[in-house]
Amino acid sequence: MPQLSHRGHRLPESPIRKLVPYAEAAVARGIEVIKLNIGQPDIQSPKPSIEAVRRFDEPLVEYTHSAGLAELRKGFRDYYLGLRIELKEHELMVTSGGSEAIQFAFGAIADPGDEVIVPEPLYANYISFAIQAGLEVVPVTSHLSNGFALPSIETIEALVGPKTRAIVVCNPGNPTGSLYSRQELEQLRDLALRKDLFILADEVYREFVYDGARHTSILDIEGLDQHAIVVDSVSKRYSLCGVRIGMLVSRNAAVMQAALKFAQARLSPPSLGQIASLGALEADADYFTQVLNEYRHRRDILVDGLLSIPGIRCPRPKGAFYAVAELPVPDAEDFARWMLSEFEYDGATVMFAPNQGFYSTPGLGKSEIRLAYVLEGPKLKQAVEVLRHGLQSYAQRG
Ligand SMILES: Cc1ncc(COP(=O)(O)O)c(C=O)c1O
Repeated sequence: MPQLSHRGHRLPESPIRKLVPYAEAAVARGIEVIKLNIGQPDIQSPKPSIEAVRRFDEPLVEYTHSAGLAELRKGFRDYYLGLRIELKEHELMVTSGGSEAIQFAFGAIADPGDEVIVPEPLYANYISFAIQAGLEVVPVTSHLSNGFALPSIETIEALVGPKTRAIVVCNPGNPTGSLYSRQELEQLRDLALRKDLFILADEVYREFVYDGARHTSILDIEGLDQHAIVVDSVSKRYSLCGVRIGMLVSRNAAVMQAALKFAQARLSPPSLGQIASLGALEADADYFTQVLNEYRHRRDILVDGLLSIPGIRCPRPKGAFYAVAELPVPDAEDFARWMLSEFEYDGATVMFAPNQGFYSTPGLGKSEIRLAYVLEGPKLKQAVEVLRHGLQSYAQRG
């Protein structure tokens, strides 16, 4: 058989999806699987987004401009203006999800063999996208004990070498729920300027911050016009994961020109997805308020429940809709598999993502799991009870 690529071999399996066969087998045995493993919200997409697709009445679904429909780019620029971030037309491009924006950014700023520094635990697909582009992820470890705060600038600076091109931050963080302050971002800026590095900020969870905190965009940090690149998406913001629409934003014209060439090679972002996204921009002003209240309510149910289980540590997330919990088990992946294949409580079990896959450093996070609070309160309460009993039975098994 002809050989496969090294990259194909190196790509990690998704930590979010790898337990799916065990979940399918549990369902086939008639067990309800409460799925907290994946960031697929159950919250409805804004009505105008669905209506916009229904209204579509053209005889042909065409490609659009490679940078996206002009009206949608304008709509997104207006959204940013609402955040007091002014952008020119060429500073924002529509992509096929935030995922493609990350790929374009990596492609535009780094060559094979180059390095990007990323706080871990990290959004696992950064590793996959880095491998696709031939880049090395250099992790800087953050810790559960301080709520996965940004590691010190000295620690990050010590990792900068001749091949470092960018520092990648996910703010608010998936999987950690951490939120970086303006002061931390300013420290990152000073480092980026000293070392002439890009800061690639993934802000797809920007709207989901709790307890009165405010999100600071990297685009709102002075002095970074040539260094800041933002990844954005409608997937989580408007519960529109399936329309596959995101954005790449930068005031650095050369970055956007290079990214546009990648965009031209893939021709067009999804046309109907752009129409749905245009509709979403018409959502009522209170859409976010309602959604935010719901997520905060769910976060508290989940985290309070987890903290009531002996031996669990779980920092209360400040943003996004994930929580990382440390369990009193030596190997959370083994436990997760056991929960799906050998355990049920009142006909149900829980599926979560082992957090080890969100670290780039081998061996870290073995006792940790990531839970997505994307289900309604009563389901989360049930999930906590199933987990409580699961941990007891797991500790007592022969
Ligand atoms: C941190 C982060 N960035 C980017 C993405 C990609 O989202 P999409 O491609 O759906 O816009 C996700 C999806 O889960 C994510 O969690």
